[in-house]
Amino acid sequence: MEQLTDSTVTLDGKTYTLTELDQSCWQQLAEAPEAEKNSFKTMTVATCTHNGADARITVLRKVDPKRKYVWFHTDARAEKVIQLETFPNAGLLFWDAEKQVQLRLTVETRLHTDDFVADDQWAELSPSSRKLYLSEKKPGIELPAPYPGFPEQFTNELPSESASEAGRNNFAVIECRVLNMEYLHLSRQGQTRAMFQYEPVVKLSWLAP
Ligand SMILES: Cc1cc2nc3c(=O)[nH]c(=O)nc-3n(C[C@H](O)[C@H](O)[C@H](O)COP(=O)(O)O)c2cc1C
Repeated sequence: MEQLTDSTVTLDGKTYTLTELDQSCWQQLAEAPEAEKNSFKTMTVATCTHNGADARITVLRKVDPKRKYVWFHTDARAEKVIQLETFPNAGLLFWDAEKQVQLRLTVETRLHTDDFVADDQWAELSPSSRKLYLSEKKPGIELPAPYPGFPEQFTNELPSESASEAGRNNFAVIECRVLNMEYLHLSRQGQTRAMFQYEPVVKLSWLAP
């Protein structure tokens, strides 16, 4: 691993080397999916398209800080899936307004629909999450009237375990191998910007804000 300098930054009274700052970011990401309230629970996923770029918010579902992977879920028929199949690299953007921290991740994605990765994460989903995969309509198609995204009978109730299984065909997991992460902390005392590169070689460095 190449760390260009031993210099440190002090944030909220705590001093960090680049390695410690990198670890702290991953710890915060790893805590987010299970936390009740956490700004890193959602992220913006930016994709490439034939016309330029696209972006949307998704929920961060799982994090592996050791291997540097994150996962999110989507409808397998969604436009973003088509985009990621053509252009597998994407950007993930996080913002914590309280801590004034932005994280920008460059990732290489892999789609999981009909395999054990999707099976395992589907098995852990609550009925309210599974309900979102029961839509009879392909996401994004034009309709003559508004449609809630699930059959009418589930407007005020959750599907049973067996009824929710109909959503499995529409469920996809997007696995993201993090190639690099850029950290930015805003402060009147001075901004802190750092780059943590993991691929093709690990390299950590401070950046000019
Ligand atoms: C707070 C919030 C969380 C969302 N979470 C997800 C999600 O986890 N997965 C997902 O596919 N869409 C999620 N969406 C909807 C997407 O932003 C987007 O509208 C939808 O997935 C269609 O995007 P696409 O046409 O680019 O595929 C969320 C939207 C909001 C506002």
